[in-house]
Amino acid sequence: MKAITLSNQKGGVAKTTTTEALASGLAQRGYKVLAVDLDPQCNLSLGSGADILNMDQTLYDVFKGAAELSDLIQKTDLGYDLITGGLALAGADMDFTQTGREYMLREALEEIKKDYDFCIIDTPPTLGILTVNALTASDSMIIPLTADLYAIQGISQLNLLIQRVRKYSNKDLKISGLLITRHDERTNVSKALMDQVIKSAEKLGTKVFTQYIRNSVAVRESQAMMADLFTEAPKANATVDYQSFIDELMKGEEEDGK
Ligand SMILES: Nc1ncnc2c1ncn2[C@@H]1O[C@H](COP(=O)(O)OP(=O)(O)O)[C@@H](O)[C@H]1O
Ligand SMILES: [Mg+2]
Repeated sequence: MKAITLSNQKGGVAKTTTTEALASGLAQRGYKVLAVDLDPQCNLSLGSGADILNMDQTLYDVFKGAAELSDLIQKTDLGYDLITGGLALAGADMDFTQTGREYMLREALEEIKKDYDFCIIDTPPTLGILTVNALTASDSMIIPLTADLYAIQGISQLNLLIQRVRKYSNKDLKISGLLITRHDERTNVSKALMDQVIKSAEKLGTKVFTQYIRNSVAVRESQAMMADLFTEAPKANATVDYQSFIDELMKGEEEDGK
């Protein structure tokens, strides 16, 4: 199983949207996919049709040692299986203080690793212990960002966390690339801004994906219907872009594997 985290501490950069697109897109390509919703706001779980208020057990209980991960797996209509972190994870930074707390997710995933080809992990807009757990459990990460100055500035903070994770809990963590999302075709990304994005990528030792994701109303519509973009709006700009982004990502993975 290959685990991929979507992370950026900035909210609204399409972490959740990209997790959903990647998970359902890979499932449609025939892979077995598990999506993990580590955001206590549970957007991914809600968008995948999960009933988050009536869950006996969540990942929080697994982290507390009071539940088994395999008992939490839910089937969704979007082609992938889902693990919900749950609302209780909102207190994770204070509730989990023991030594080794960076490894909770990584250890929990051991049990089900053989059952999946990919695990796609959505993270909260913070750089706390949940994001550290996601990065510690992952082979690689993708950084979605919008092409605006604040999003670009935030990348250096994220970089500090990545360096810490590599030093202490996952020395092999790879950064697959920066993915520009929510692109408005009417406003050209200025050359100056694009140069900054490329510079941030260089600092991280990674690239900017050639394919960026355009804005489409279909994204919100399909999320509201708890459906996946590829089935719901196959011709929408964002859908077409996500398809070729997944192709680009998979091509990169193959080349790395050689
Ligand atoms: N390509 C897109 N086109 C239109 N709306 C988008 C697109 N990507 C994301 N959105 C919308 O932007 C908002 C933020 O996206 P979301 O994936 O929730 O970001 P994050 O998880 O990083 O906070 C959501 O309302 C989502 O529907
Ligand atoms: Mg989100």
